[in-house]
Amino acid sequence: MLVELQKRFSDLKPDYGLILGSGLGAIANALQDAQSAPYSDFSFFPNSHIAGHAGRILYGRIGTKQVLIFQGRFHAYEGHPASTVTLPITLLHALKAKTVILTNAAGSLDPSFSAGDIMLIEDHLNLTGSSPTVGPNEDPYPRFLNMTEAYALDLRKKVLADAKKLSIPLKQGVYAGVLGPCYETPAEVRMLRTLGAHAVGMSTVAECIKARHYSMSVLGISCIANAAFDGIQQQAPLSHEEVLAVSAQAAHNIRTLVEAFCS
Ligand code: HPA
Repeated sequence: MLVELQKRFSDLKPDYGLILGSGLGAIANALQDAQSAPYSDFSFFPNSHIAGHAGRILYGRIGTKQVLIFQGRFHAYEGHPASTVTLPITLLHALKAKTVILTNAAGSLDPSFSAGDIMLIEDHLNLTGSSPTVGPNEDPYPRFLNMTEAYALDLRKKVLADAKKLSIPLKQGVYAGVLGPCYETPAEVRMLRTLGAHAVGMSTVAECIKARHYSMSVLGISCIANAAFDGIQQQAPLSHEEVLAVSAQAAHNIRTLVEAFCS
């Protein structure tokens, strides 16, 4: 895998990895001296056909950091095994990147959040029913992984300070990761709220776990694409197209935060 990547990208030594979720692809425009290649150029990626996911790797510089960007991800709800879902993390680890920024589109469970808000992920609930570390352990990494600081506190503090300086409104909360691909029922929304989650989505938790298994630091940012339908607010759930349109607006603010993070 590494040889294929190194053949395609010159001088490949990423400081950071950045995974871009649904509708957030434009954040890749922050890259300077960008090189790019479609996933289809590599033998180790499956074909993916989800709207809003370009399916490209890009490499270049943001601020002072060399950044490898995965524009579009592989989801468990598409039937991909955990090893495919977390392939970007495996590649970043092999390239010795120490930090990964995970972005996603999520539904809000908190009535004070609106579509277009961005939320710094403080912690997550893994409700996907599995984990990328299930199976024979990959030595020398820990069998029983400590997840008390899944999303690095020092990185969160930095982003909160940057957001304040840049006057970018930034929510904070717990991300509930579910398998999908159905959106939540009203009963599920009430359950997730009771469990202490502020946003819900269908990605990110597996990548976070895999990255922590390799001792990488994780920063997580959700774009609130819609209010998760709870049957009380009488709001119809958004279509996938609407989810993508709202994320494009929030993408601008996330891009600014990523640029500050990499400066
Ligand atoms: N639920 C789950 N995943 C999502 C949602 C949602 O409401 N919005 C965007 N991704």
